[in-house]
Amino acid sequence: MLREAPVIPWPSRDGSRVPFEVFTRADVFAREQEAIFRGPVWNYVALEAEIPQPNDFKTTFVGDTPIIVSRAEDGSLHAFLNRCAHRGATVQRQASGNARQHKCVYHQWCYNSQGDLVGVPYRRAVAGMGGYSADFAPKDHGLTKLRVASRKGVIFATFHPDTVALEEYLDEPLLAAIDRLFSRPIKVLGHMRQRVRGNWKLYSENTRDPYHAALLHGFHATFGLYRTNQRRVGGSDRARAHSTGATYGDDWRQAAQSGNIGQDKFVANYSLADPSLLEGRPDFNDGVTVSITSIFPCLVIQQIMNTLATRHIRPKAADEFELYWTYFGYEDDDEQMIACRLKQANLIGPAGLISMEDSEAIELIQRAIVRDGHENSFLEFGGLHADLGKDRVGEATIRAFWRYYAGLMGLSPAGGEA
Ligand code: FES
Ligand SMILES: [Fe+2]
Repeated sequence: MLREAPVIPWPSRDGSRVPFEVFTRADVFAREQEAIFRGPVWNYVALEAEIPQPNDFKTTFVGDTPIIVSRAEDGSLHAFLNRCAHRGATVQRQASGNARQHKCVYHQWCYNSQGDLVGVPYRRAVAGMGGYSADFAPKDHGLTKLRVASRKGVIFATFHPDTVALEEYLDEPLLAAIDRLFSRPIKVLGHMRQRVRGNWKLYSENTRDPYHAALLHGFHATFGLYRTNQRRVGGSDRARAHSTGATYGDDWRQAAQSGNIGQDKFVANYSLADPSLLEGRPDFNDGVTVSITSIFPCLVIQQIMNTLATRHIRPKAADEFELYWTYFGYEDDDEQMIACRLKQANLIGPAGLISMEDSEAIELIQRAIVRDGHENSFLEFGGLHADLGKDRVGEATIRAFWRYYAGLMGLSPAGGEA
């Protein structure tokens, strides 16, 4: 049973006005856990390359629910609640590792790598005291399991029995975006985590909004990695996803200048003390050097030059989320390529040259909207009838996000567009 939908008066059906209270209210956050993160969606949880061996595991979250993702003895993938079926303690407290069994520290109930209960201390009493009755069945007390599916080593999980097959949920061209980035075996290079004191949906908006990149990020504007005058390559603007790509040529300085005339973030006389930061080798033969794909509700996959990463949005409260970055390269990378990827890792992450302003912008919003929840943000850039498929510079994809969100949440006006 879903809790009742919070009453939030949305002033329009098209997603062009978003009441600020969806970013601040605890009841909205609680409803999201049920209607979205435990709703008919696929939540990104891990990369297979993070748990390559039998009994490897990683702890993560679906919404704010703690989860263990694990590879069983037979190689199969599993996801289950990281919350003891006895009295609710966190079972696995490590971020990742290898364990045949996950033992709860409190009274030592023990679960295997599929989440089944396999050990209960004093089950048949100790010195005639305690114990469980003869009909106690361990199989009824395992950790709650989620359905799991993997596409090219990207693992998703869902609580909901009616979630459509992963391939149907992702659909083209998101499948193509995943298949492109994970076209050959990957090697995880590391992780970064950052707490942002803002609502998780502000980050969803941010990654569906390519046109802020040259306006907010001085590094982008000055060094031309991402410009509003770039040609869009591929992409998708469906309600539960957004994907966009662009190329970066040898003419970037000219292009940066012409694309940023009158833009105060562009500093013509800046150059890099170490130009090798932006010198890499193409990973793909399609010429695309920037590709950002956001998949509802909590995943962004990115290629920025040679920096490849997943970004996992982990909501913590109405006004706080964690951003969890997993950097990777390919198994066949030589040392030079790994060094290049690690150097370019400075572009993104909590202090990334082209991403540190995003969390700041989000916190600027969150701080300013604590009052006046019935007032709205304004999303009409590009026009209300902008073509979802063509306009890289616009807010149509964000409006589509909000219509889909409102539909899943049961808010009025109804959305539900897929
Ligand atoms: S709470 Fe886990 S064994 Fe008691
Ligand atoms: Fe940004």
